[in-house]
Amino acid sequence: MSHVEQAEGTRRDFLYVATGAAGAVAAGAAIWPLINQMNPSADVQALSSIEVDVSGVQTGTQLRVKWLGKPVFIRRRTEAEIAAARAVPLEDLPDPVARNANLPADAPATDQNRALDESGEWLVMMGVCTHLGCVPLGDGAGDFGGWFCPCHGSHYDTAGRIRKGPAPENLHVPVAAFVSDGMLKLG
Ligand code: FES
Repeated sequence: MSHVEQAEGTRRDFLYVATGAAGAVAAGAAIWPLINQMNPSADVQALSSIEVDVSGVQTGTQLRVKWLGKPVFIRRRTEAEIAAARAVPLEDLPDPVARNANLPADAPATDQNRALDESGEWLVMMGVCTHLGCVPLGDGAGDFGGWFCPCHGSHYDTAGRIRKGPAPENLHVPVAAFVSDGMLKLG
């Protein structure tokens, strides 16, 4: 074997190995998306449910948090707000169902079916107008003392139920529960 032939042989071996290595990398890259789909990453799981410390929320005020990219209103209602919401006849409600993800889809929109606890002190709702998705103003805004969406004039009462304006549905109540004293879990 001449020197030239030897060098060629070596070069071919080297090219073969390099090609083989590139193929292995490509195969490895193709496997990754499959693995990722089978195991949702930890931060995706963490985002789907959050815990909120509501112990500092004063009666008559609202805490606004962001969850799954949307605002959530957590209101600690006054006795007057609860009484006003409970005095409304169901026939006066444009949307007769509770829109509460913790209850059956056909649960009526009584104040008891909207509030999180039996006393009615805590009202938790998505802060998304059911008309076209604006964020309604709170703290007694609008003609019914609850929330008001200035985009096209939707008025919600102290239970977050639509009472006047173009919004078709009550503000949605998300999956929520108290996990301990003052600690609220969303999702
Ligand atoms: S988006 Fe709220 S009234 Fe239109």
